[in-house]
Amino acid sequence: MVSSIKLADRLKSVKPSGIRRFFALAQEMPGCINLTVGEPDFCPPQHTLDAGCQAAREGKTHYTPTNGIPELREALAQKANCDYGLSYDPSCEILITVGGTEAIFAALMGLLSPGDEVLIPDPGFVVYEPGVLLAGGVPVHVPLLEQNGFRPIVDDVTSLVTDRSRVMILNYPNNPTGAILSYDEVAALAKIVVERDMIVISDEVYEKIIYDAAKHYCLATFPKMRSRTLVVNSFSKTYAMTGLRVGYVYGPRELISPLWRVHQYTVACVDSLSQHIALAAVRGAQDFVENMMREFDKRRRLVYKRLNEIDGFKCQLPKGAFYVFPNIKAFGMSSEKFAEFIVNEARVLTVPGSAFGTCGEGYIRISYAASYEKLEEALNRIERAVKKLR
Ligand SMILES: Cc1ncc(COP(=O)(O)O)c(C=O)c1O
Repeated sequence: MVSSIKLADRLKSVKPSGIRRFFALAQEMPGCINLTVGEPDFCPPQHTLDAGCQAAREGKTHYTPTNGIPELREALAQKANCDYGLSYDPSCEILITVGGTEAIFAALMGLLSPGDEVLIPDPGFVVYEPGVLLAGGVPVHVPLLEQNGFRPIVDDVTSLVTDRSRVMILNYPNNPTGAILSYDEVAALAKIVVERDMIVISDEVYEKIIYDAAKHYCLATFPKMRSRTLVVNSFSKTYAMTGLRVGYVYGPRELISPLWRVHQYTVACVDSLSQHIALAAVRGAQDFVENMMREFDKRRRLVYKRLNEIDGFKCQLPKGAFYVFPNIKAFGMSSEKFAEFIVNEARVLTVPGSAFGTCGEGYIRISYAASYEKLEEALNRIERAVKKLR
């Protein structure tokens, strides 16, 4: 037995994820409806799974090139061209990563020096802050407030930029709020980045999960932005492949090469079979995504309507992703206490908004990546439970 196990100093500032704690609660409660998960509840398209089986039979079970199999990088280069008119060299400007998560972490590890400041969204995806801290950086929270549709205000962002600001992390469509940005809003943020000579990590993993004919604007398409943007993307959400762990990053060679080095010494390469499955997804028909989106849209409208009918909830209609982020301040409890109340009284698991940052206090995140029937039942239960508070 080791007599004293000492936590590494770099871990001391990193708290365990607030989502995992609530997720663990669900395992202990039979009959609980879990609305915490950030993964589509669909099976990936059959032809992609067949491609994985075929790759296994062909013995494609060995290390792949560090930056990913060439066919996948080439297919992704074509995708960038088709979707955004952007041209990336598959040999040095595209890196296949272990989900978007590794891409974000490798970017921070590869680009930050101690004390470098990183603007992160608040509320925001739970890996940004720990990632910045583990890389020795300083997270600077950009408030995303309900009264602004959970979108950043340019003056707020400008006032938070200092001489130490090095990176801005943007995430649209946004987790946890479902907000998206207009062309002008992205352009205004891009202008700050250029003027202050910063780099953007643009987390666009929900790029295809967008409603009502809204448009997603890729950061790298804005003037002078290609050279200073890392576009992070993933197969997890678009193709319901969260467990396969395939993500990717586009960027200029100078920005991709530090990530590549971190990636090489941490994961060596991404799972070979998963890369073949991802290849079939990006090359094949995209009707899977359209069907999934139709279903998500139905659920989004259901959750939005039903929550707003329950006294005490105030919910905006999300424009992207598969989360709603209702205001629960009228119940007079912290978001953590409220989420606990909902688990105990309604057997429905949600995530307290505070897990996403201080500006998330007063909200909960509900994922509608669960069947329509389950969502209806969960909303009935929530409605009955909160009546007891009145
Ligand atoms: C905003 C955002 N970025 C990145 C990810 C990472 O996903 P993955 O690592 O599965 O690609 C997630 C997952 O929930 C997310 O919500």
